[in-house]
Amino acid sequence: MRTIGIIGAMDEEIVLLKEKAEITSVEHLLGLDFYRGKLYQKDIVLVRCGIGKVNAAACVQVLVDRFSVDCIINTGVAGAIYHRLQIGDIVISHDAVQHDMDTSVLGDPVGIIPRMEESYFHADKRLMALAKKAGEQMETKHNIFLGRIASGDQFISTKPQKQRIWNTVGGYCAEMEGGAIAHVCYLNQIPFVIIRSISDKAEGEAGMDFAEFVHIAAKNSGELVENMLRLMTEEEKNSPQN
Ligand code: ADE
Repeated sequence: MRTIGIIGAMDEEIVLLKEKAEITSVEHLLGLDFYRGKLYQKDIVLVRCGIGKVNAAACVQVLVDRFSVDCIINTGVAGAIYHRLQIGDIVISHDAVQHDMDTSVLGDPVGIIPRMEESYFHADKRLMALAKKAGEQMETKHNIFLGRIASGDQFISTKPQKQRIWNTVGGYCAEMEGGAIAHVCYLNQIPFVIIRSISDKAEGEAGMDFAEFVHIAAKNSGELVENMLRLMTEEEKNSPQN
């Protein structure tokens, strides 16, 4: 992987990586700042895409077209859907889906994008394995799950919303960008992985929990991504081609 696109939706989700990286230039496109730089000797383009699926999708296409990234890592926070997830835990995407894609009145299961071959977009196996290893090497220990990321243009904060996501698409956690990032990566045939740390339980006090835990959860996710880049560099140094 030569150039890695790293996306967070909010400042909180990219601040740690921006501090750790050696930023060499900034380009302003679509009202977004694309930071080129190096992190653990890897070339990166780091960007805050803004909240929601459309912002995320547009940002991925810029990363592909203008920055020629070879893969995309999405880092950030999410609300827990799977009951075993606790605040601070991390979900590594096995795949991602858009839980608000709903043409069920026409006979399609929720989440299915009509007339497309794929609707559950698979994360890259190598990136998933690297993320798992990176998670095991984190200083603070969290439970790490490999699971489905469910995305929609909604902040999930009630039991019925949460139950619906679990029952319809089987998402482990809910957020607002990953499914769109995965979709655009699929269209461009670019490998991706989504890393999300839990900031709230997507019900009851979700709004207040989010405000309280967004920083710590964003930090957890960023730390895992940082470890991923370090491991990538280590693995490439040890590979027989080098
Ligand atoms: N991101 C963090 N928590 C979330 C929630 N409960 N719903 C949607 N996106 C989120």
